[in-house]
Amino acid sequence: MLTHTSMSQKTAHYLHLEEEFGAHNYHPLPVVLERGDGVFLYDVDGKRYYDFLSGYSAVNQGHCHPRIIHKLIEQAQKLTLTSRAFHSNLLGEYAQFITSYFGFDKVLPMNTGVEAVETAIKLARRWGYVNKGIEENKAKIIVCEQNFHGRTSTVISFSTDPSSYTKFGPFMPGFEVVEYDNLPALEKAMQDKNVAGFLFEPIQGEAGVKVPADGYIQGIRALCNEYNVLMIADEIQTGLARTGKMLACDHENVKPDILILGKALSGGTIPVSAVLANNDIMLNIKPGEHGSTYGGNPLACAVAIESLKVLKEENMTDNAAAMGELFRNMLKQLQSPFITTIRGKGLLNAIVVSHSNPDAAWELCLELKANGLLAKPTHGDKIRFAPPLLITAEQVHECVGIIEKSLTILA
Ligand SMILES: Cc1ncc(COP(=O)(O)O)c(C=O)c1O
Repeated sequence: MLTHTSMSQKTAHYLHLEEEFGAHNYHPLPVVLERGDGVFLYDVDGKRYYDFLSGYSAVNQGHCHPRIIHKLIEQAQKLTLTSRAFHSNLLGEYAQFITSYFGFDKVLPMNTGVEAVETAIKLARRWGYVNKGIEENKAKIIVCEQNFHGRTSTVISFSTDPSSYTKFGPFMPGFEVVEYDNLPALEKAMQDKNVAGFLFEPIQGEAGVKVPADGYIQGIRALCNEYNVLMIADEIQTGLARTGKMLACDHENVKPDILILGKALSGGTIPVSAVLANNDIMLNIKPGEHGSTYGGNPLACAVAIESLKVLKEENMTDNAAAMGELFRNMLKQLQSPFITTIRGKGLLNAIVVSHSNPDAAWELCLELKANGLLAKPTHGDKIRFAPPLLITAEQVHECVGIIEKSLTILA
């Protein structure tokens, strides 16, 4: 059943360069891309693919969105970096824009997603000492099994995935792991008076798009209120219209105390992340106590404002909701014996591949690639399907056709 797609000389050349001179910390599909446009990617031989990963949801607005690229170029020609030693004319404007967009008092700008997670952890600990009265160095953050919040040494300290933490110790203390989507377990852990925050993903992306039961997010909110614990939502992957609402927490009309954003905040152009919170949390950090050279740079501010405007003005939440519904329904109609589970919200979806061959999901992704659709397995048997949010119904039909055709490889 296995196919070995032939590889062009060009492709082989670029794969060789990466293999020879790059660290081996990823295992990509053997495709070399050189151009992107909306929902499409093009490889070095000019072959076109539907992008069903969207840079792990960084490219929600579509590849090289003209408005975002225009802003990027326009601002790059004026001013890119001041550092925070000086003010720029864009930081204040951006801060006002994003805080009113999401309804928080303040924003703390960072670059990568994991830096924003680190920032949220520091904010929660500081709040725990200053506001909750936790004894110094005793603050605890509760996290979930199968979490994914990034790759720094603090964040992998509370990962439950051996490939993230093995032989990277010693680990940062002060975290307690509870089962995801288990409110009684969370309540039990919260009874410890040293708990400052609960850090969670509203849908677990890397774990294979694990969608919790209805009411989980509201339950978290209620417990955080009851036990005076900060609710810290990592919406780096689920936020910014991906799940059919601006934030995944919006599905249950819940507002977290700390909101973490990244990825699509720049429409897939440059690393831009943000932490949003109200004054009682944010103003505990004073000048010199936290920061980043590039955090809040003028280029990032200009691009982030435009990326957020595009999401709203091009109605991407509604399209993600409608196209996600259509996509899941069509996948279910395939009734493939090799797909045991189809789950997701909006355009953050995954299937679980069931097959005697443990490499079946990888093989299926190679076949999808051959047929013009790029997706990547996660944790062996799961494949995430998360196209840019401007995908049309006609394109969804075509893509389900590609998936149906590709599944025959498993027969
Ligand atoms: C939920 C979540 N948090 C944090 C991160 C880390 O973001 P970055 O890779 O930009 O550091 C990711 C990345 O996939 C993520 O999905």
